[in-house]
Amino acid sequence: PTLAILWAVIGYLLGSIPFGILITRMMNLGDLRQIGSGNIGATNVLRTGNKGAAAATLLLDGVKGAVAVLLAQAMSGDGGAMQIAGLAAFIGHCYPVWLKFQGGKGVATFLGVILALSWPVGLLCCATWLFAALVSRISSVGALTAAMASTVWMFFMARTDLIIVGTILTLLIYWRHRANLARLKAGTEPKIGAKK
Ligand code: G3P
Repeated sequence: PTLAILWAVIGYLLGSIPFGILITRMMNLGDLRQIGSGNIGATNVLRTGNKGAAAATLLLDGVKGAVAVLLAQAMSGDGGAMQIAGLAAFIGHCYPVWLKFQGGKGVATFLGVILALSWPVGLLCCATWLFAALVSRISSVGALTAAMASTVWMFFMARTDLIIVGTILTLLIYWRHRANLARLKAGTEPKIGAKK
């Protein structure tokens, strides 16, 4: 239990670093909260018009999730600790104490965590995200499809040990995309890069 709490705290703290906010502030791109969906993720950073800032946000929000998992692996060598660290990083991104618990939707961090837990499953999830996002031209459709597919990929890649954490992450991603799901239903969800 001490090990679990330790990795929950380390994972949470890493995940709670809001790179989207930090990068847009450093580059003077305006207040991310007043732009587009108001979300702190790469999709919304792209709505500032700065592709480099969006790419950096995507990368760093992913890396922090992967780092949490890989640190747990290197220091404890325990599969359960890795899953706890990854889940905690995801929760840290979505509910960061620094932003009064008003964080992001967790997609980049989810991809980083899954890549670090199992790179074959992670690559399949990234490919699913890319494919669904390219076909629909809507970021949230990519995210929701990849999240749903993740447990299926875990099953096919014989990583059934990850299915519980995968299911929790998927449910949280759907919960964090409530507003997107409502916009998708209403047909008002903007395409990638649109400034709305
Ligand atoms: O990663 C979040 C993405 O799926 C949706 O972002 O800003 O369109 O709500 P946004």
